[in-house]
Amino acid sequence: MIRVGKQNRVFILTGAGVSAESGIPTFRGAGGLWRNYRIEAVASPEAWARDPVLVWEFYSMRRKMAKAARPNAAHVALAELESKIGERLFLCTQNVDNLHEQAGSTHVTHMHGELLKTRCERCLREPFADDACYEPPVAIPRCECGGKLRPHICWFGEVPFKLDSIFAELERCALFVAIGTSGVVEPAASFVAQVRARARTYYVGPELPANHSAFEECFQGEAGKIVPDLFRLD
Ligand code: OAD
Repeated sequence: MIRVGKQNRVFILTGAGVSAESGIPTFRGAGGLWRNYRIEAVASPEAWARDPVLVWEFYSMRRKMAKAARPNAAHVALAELESKIGERLFLCTQNVDNLHEQAGSTHVTHMHGELLKTRCERCLREPFADDACYEPPVAIPRCECGGKLRPHICWFGEVPFKLDSIFAELERCALFVAIGTSGVVEPAASFVAQVRARARTYYVGPELPANHSAFEECFQGEAGKIVPDLFRLD
């Protein structure tokens, strides 16, 4: 049980594990997505330059999976937490699905982008909602400017989104809770080390993450079972 004081700001970092019980495979570990696809082959600017058809095939497959998924008890519990503590909750996700929003969360920071958005690789047009699948024989979509349209995803070697607001919030949170993330992908893996001198730090997931020694306490189990009873509000 995590006690949330009346003034406490809560930073929650979610990873693929929070969506596992909704049927979206995690990246690492048993059943991990990258068993069928080597990550560098599909999630990097180099892959996009070399084989954009393969990249869109991969993200089309993920779009189908995400569209079929529904939020689980952990997503719902985090949306309920937002309805109780409002803007004192900062929900930062590494996930590109929209299950937090489907559960009712209204302020979600997607640091690795959003699967159901597309943007132009060339012009400054805003990323736009798009759930289409672009698999052969469907051609790679093009922008009005002529540039290729790409998934609105932060690929390996690219800078994650919204880092300014994320680092500002890490500076002022009293509680940091990571849920379902293996603690190996930077910069998210280092957030806990950054806040631990000031904030209480917790992890939720069935296995200990690579950075577990930085957490004050780890609650071992599935997010859908643990998160609904995790917070006690003062
Ligand atoms: P990982 O696949 O690396 O780790 C998922 C974690 O979820 C593991 O530690 C599992 O133990 C845990 N897990 C599994 N089932 C769970 C459950 N029911 N409840 C809670 N936890 C569970 O996923 P991430 O750490 O999110 O980046 O991966 C980070 C980034 O690596 C992703 O955002 C993605 C990937 O490359 C990009 O696509 C840019």
